[in-house]
Amino acid sequence: MAKRNAVRSRKIVVNPAPTDYHGGMDNFDIDPTAPKAALYAELLTAADALTAGEPDGTANMANISALLWQFLPGLNWAGFYRMGRNSAGGDELILGPFQGKAACIRIPLNKGVCGMAASTGEIQCVDDVHAFPGHIACDADSRSELVAPIVRDGAVIAVIDLDSPIPSRFDREDSAGLDAMARLLAKRI
Ligand code: SME
Repeated sequence: MAKRNAVRSRKIVVNPAPTDYHGGMDNFDIDPTAPKAALYAELLTAADALTAGEPDGTANMANISALLWQFLPGLNWAGFYRMGRNSAGGDELILGPFQGKAACIRIPLNKGVCGMAASTGEIQCVDDVHAFPGHIACDADSRSELVAPIVRDGAVIAVIDLDSPIPSRFDREDSAGLDAMARLLAKRI
């Protein structure tokens, strides 16, 4: 294994000119106003292209949260919670890559919309979060929520969570679209 270079100085280096490197990842031609089925089909194609060659799950979750945030209208949060461990060694959701306001870091499996999706393995489409028992209000603006579990080898390994300030923002087409996204990502995060 290569030896790490020792850090000898903390000098600030100002690059003299912009580099010409550009990953070319921001040029998806997706119309957020397209009918939902077409929009989710475009998002799936883009998500496939973004994640196909990359084995790092954190990088892939970061890019997918940015993709959903950029092209799905009416969101105030889009991101991931991963299955992790609590201090007693039990299962618990832990905040992953996301877009939106800073959010709750840990969610027990019996709490909130995310916990329900993780513990049941079923998509949760909530028209009115205030009517959902145990809803966790990370952002007071949220009114509706859609959470899809990501299942690998029969176990929930993460959830994708979308929040909206619009009541009843999500419907069956959103649920089907996010479910397809969750299935695509099962082996890529
Ligand atoms: N509202 C979620 C918590 C996560 S945030 O919305 C980002 C819930 O009830 O599980």
